[in-house]
Parts: sequence; C-alpha cells; structure tokens
Amino acid sequence: MPVSASLPAPAGEAREHGERVRAHLHAAIADAGGWLDFERFMSLALYAPGLGYYSAGATKLGAGGDFVTAPELGPLFAQSLARSLAPVLAEHPDAGIVEFGAGTGALAAELLPALAALGFAVPDYAILETSAALKARQQTRIAALPGDHASRVRWLDRLPPAAPVGIVIANEVLDALPVRRFRVEADGVRPLGVVRDGDSFAWRIGDADAALAREVESRLGPELAALPTGYESELCALMPAWVASALELFDSGVALFVDYGLPRREYYAPERSGGTLRCHYRHHAHSDPFLVPGLQDITAWVDFTTVAEAAVAAGWEVAGFATQAHWLLDSGVLEVVAAPAVDARAEAERARELRMLTMPGEMGERFRVMALSRGVDPVPAGFGLRDLRDRL
Ligand SMILES: C[S@@+](CC[C@H](N)C(=O)[O-])C[C@H]1O[C@@H](n2cnc3c(N)ncnc32)[C@H](O)[C@@H]1O
Repeated sequence: MPVSASLPAPAGEAREHGERVRAHLHAAIADAGGWLDFERFMSLALYAPGLGYYSAGATKLGAGGDFVTAPELGPLFAQSLARSLAPVLAEHPDAGIVEFGAGTGALAAELLPALAALGFAVPDYAILETSAALKARQQTRIAALPGDHASRVRWLDRLPPAAPVGIVIANEVLDALPVRRFRVEADGVRPLGVVRDGDSFAWRIGDADAALAREVESRLGPELAALPTGYESELCALMPAWVASALELFDSGVALFVDYGLPRREYYAPERSGGTLRCHYRHHAHSDPFLVPGLQDITAWVDFTTVAEAAVAAGWEVAGFATQAHWLLDSGVLEVVAAPAVDARAEAERARELRMLTMPGEMGERFRVMALSRGVDPVPAGFGLRDLRDRL
C-alpha cells in the first residue's frame, strides 16, 4: 500500500492551505529553472511566511496535531531536566535560560515549577520561537501558570548580545533545520533536488555541486569511499552556523540539545542507504516530503558529530552525550516516579510516560542528549551511566 493511501486525507481549510503551499512550491521550482535544491524546498515547506508548516496556524503538536514530543507526554521530561541542570544552577544561581523552539510551551511550563521545587528561582527564561502561532500558544500556557513563574518568561525576536552565564535548551529543534540531500553516483556526490511532477513533486539528481561535494567529503572523510552507488542521505549545511550562534548567547554556561540523531559514523553507515528524513502528519510517520507539504512536519536526524565540532570550534566543550533513556535515568527520573501519585490513574499515566520516554522502541534510544559547556563546573548531570562521547 502506498504511504499516501494510509494517511488521512486533508479536508476543508487544511486542504485549501495544502493547495496554496503546493502552488507556492511549484512557483519556486519554476523560478529556479525547473529544479529546486531540497534544502530550499524544505525551508519553504516549513517556514515560507504565512504558508509553511511552522509559519501558518496548523495545530502541529499534541493529540489533535501531527506529533507528540517528550515534554508533551507529561511532566517527567522537564522534571528530569531540572535535576540534570541542578548542579549547574547550584553553582550559578544567576544563570538565565534560553529555550529555542518551545512548541506549545510544555517544557517551560513544567521546568520552571520543577526547578522551583528544587530551590532554584531562574531569574530569566527567554524563548526564541520562529512560529507566531506557536508563540501565541506558549504565551497563553505560560500566563496560566500559578505563582510568579510567568513574570520571569519573555520572548525574543532575535538573538540578543551575549550575557555572562546561562543555559541553552533545544528539544527537537535541530531536526527541523532544512537539510541538503545527496546521492552517491559513480562519478561523485550529486545533490538531490525537487522537480514538478504534475500536481505533485518528484526527486531529480542535480548537476555536480562543488560546494556540496566538498562538504560531504570533509564530513565523511575516508568513510565516503565505503558508500555504494545510489546511497542517499542528508547533510545539514546550516548546522555549524546555527550551533555557533546559539552558543554565542552566553560567555559561559551549558547547552543541552535533545533530538533524534546519531554520531556521524552511524549516521552515514552504508546500510542506512535511504537517509533519515521523517515526516509527521496527524500521528502518521513516513518519509515522503512531497505528500502534504505545508501540512506535515519534515525532519531529518541530527549528525551529532557536526554539533560537537561546531561547539569545539566556538570554544565550547562536549560535556556529555547519551541516549535519552540513560540521561533520564542518570538524572533521577526513577526518583521522580517513586514519589506518591495523586491516584491510581495518575500512577498508570506516569508509568506509560516513563515507558515512552525510555524504551528503546519508543524515544529512549533514538533520541540523544548532548551537553556542551564552557567555563562552568560542574556540568549537567545525566551522563554518568553511559557516556557516548567516544562514539562521536
Ligand atoms: C518539533 S517542535 C519542538 C517543540 C518543543 N521544543 C517540544 O519539545 O515540544 C520544533 C519547534 O522549533 C521551532 N523552530 C523551528 N526552527 C527554529 C529555529 N530556527 N529557531 C527557533 N525555533 C525554531 C518550531 O516552531 C517549533 O516550536
């Protein structure tokens, strides 16, 4: 059965919106001379003003949307993150937090009370969000928090000048950065782009692209020679600059990036021959970015070696790298779960949440947590159980 047959068909306003996005993408392909690099396609499908998935008003996250993230499942992720950050905040109580891409605001809404319960009143919690629709949801959610938490939260329109010390958080944001796609051909690496195919789109190999070939060679080194002809994958050319600018927010501090991802050697393993693109539409995951552009999320797994290299180039250190399961367990998620629940139903829900966050077949193994640090000691907890830095 083709993927399209198993997806719910968009109806009403969503269908009309999808048609507008398709027309916009077709026009962009025509403007580019009939072939559009995939990075540009992904960028427009996600972020074209008023049209892209993250720029327009679709529900996106949560039960009524397209996908569920770890903070959306319940409070356990945020409560564990609070414990992971506790050693840093104990030494640097003046550290502010900047969260990139806060979704519905679920993480912030749980993290601030969880930190307060541990005795930390974060002086400043800033959110950098590209989606106006999600920013509005975040503002409503944060405003409803009891106590004075909301008074510490502000939204930034652009990257501010560096502050002395702070914490950067991004959960499932790096996988939303547009990627280039490439294919290994007998005569070298070639870009994969998008052409119009009637009402839809199709992949087409592009002309040799020296910049792309250089970047693939430089990232993969001798491992490139082991990849068979026809091998396809992704490369996030934007990642190094994105990481560098996120780390410029603070002269010293820590950053925690959580995402689907792998060290480079595993990311570009010969058997992973179709790449890592993942699209999410109404809780169906598939790998066809042409199905319902504008209505579905499009993501690519993160090459964490590139994140680490960008951090080191910016003068930061990689303080830890672990699976989400190991990081949660070492941060004390089981102690959080051991606290009495309000009733049996709440206890069952918490057990389900713990399973979703930690089981290898769910989020436990595919999600990785990377901690970066500069000029602070101690670093976040969570990396004592199994630190995978040697795989980077
Ligand atoms: C998959 S959602 C994750 C949301 C949230 N962090 C969570 O875990 O529930 C991706 C989020 O990143 C935002 N986003 C995408 N690209 C971004 C960028 N370059 N800078 C900041 N936010 C971005 C999206 O609007 C959205 O809020």
